[in-house]
Amino acid sequence: MSTPKGPPAPLPVLSPAPQVFVVGAGLMGSGIAAQCALAGCAVQLEDVSAELAKGGLDRARRALEHAVGRGEVAAERAEGAVARLTTAVGLSGAASAEIVIEAAPEELALKRRLFADLERSVGPETVLASNTSSLPIGALGDGLRSPGRLVGLHFFNPVLQMPLVELISGRRTDADVARRAEGFARGLGKTVVHSADSPGFVTSRALALLVNEAARMLEQGVAARDDIDAAYRLGFHHPMGPFELVDLVGIDTTVAILDVLFDGLHDERYRAAPVLRKMVAEGRLGRKSGEGFYAYPSRGPGRT
Ligand SMILES: NC(=O)c1ccc[n+]([C@@H]2O[C@H](COP(=O)([O-])OP(=O)(O)OC[C@H]3O[C@@H](n4cnc5c(N)ncnc54)[C@H](O)[C@@H]3O)[C@@H](O)[C@H]2O)c1
Repeated sequence: MSTPKGPPAPLPVLSPAPQVFVVGAGLMGSGIAAQCALAGCAVQLEDVSAELAKGGLDRARRALEHAVGRGEVAAERAEGAVARLTTAVGLSGAASAEIVIEAAPEELALKRRLFADLERSVGPETVLASNTSSLPIGALGDGLRSPGRLVGLHFFNPVLQMPLVELISGRRTDADVARRAEGFARGLGKTVVHSADSPGFVTSRALALLVNEAARMLEQGVAARDDIDAAYRLGFHHPMGPFELVDLVGIDTTVAILDVLFDGLHDERYRAAPVLRKMVAEGRLGRKSGEGFYAYPSRGPGRT
């Protein structure tokens, strides 16, 4: 006798403090790991080498210490969070995770490859989330056997201080997976906004224009760096000027976002200003490389 088949039962929400596997221990991966550990999750922070993974863990620890210094987190809570953070190299540790958050560089081919590898490592109910700033979630899921399990969870830098997460459902993202990812982000204390799977979503599309226009004004001699930064800060109540912001985000990441927007929207406004490309070619990537539009003498590569 065959049992009658109805619609599949909805997947349960994630545990209150699910095990998390973070791929990429850079600026964002370390912040996301710190935030998840603070919420009580056991977190593995993975990178391509033990040194890079350890560097990410150190950055996560410093972010938590700064939060204690600002009076936002009690010292014991931060210590508990640090104790829940471990490092990994390779994706096999993802097998025990309820959710994987990918925060590798903004390159479509690399992320696709990572998700294909992850799909082989994780359990059938594991949520796969990408922290991509601009790449279509639909395109990232191409090549997956179950593209429905992939969702965009876009955090902001510095993660512990920024209350927003953008949630992006690709054309094939399972509604249940989006619901679970949203519940997870809310559990971290974030406010979730929904965006269609359009290049750059809401926030990176806005960021790209804001920064690109500032860079063009600089190139055209409209105003000097400090005047442009002061104009955005004092004229629009922005907490940072565009050059301070792009140094924080990473100039390489910003150019990658502009390229995705230009390719996806065919709009000249998103053609990266030459000065941004030149800085990437010179390795002046912003705070993370020690120099961008400003110099950060005490912050060598790998520091934030
Ligand atoms: N920088 C920001 O403000 C910001 C904000 C939101 C989202 N994002 C997005 O987050 C992602 C990461 O950005 P980031 O600024 O943290 O970059 P980053 O360069 O600081 O970090 C990327 C990390 O990924 C690692 N990596 C490279 N290849 C890998 C692989 N195959 N497996 C595992 N790790 C690998 C690198 O070694 C590096 O540590 C990008 O998609 C970016 O668009 C960035």
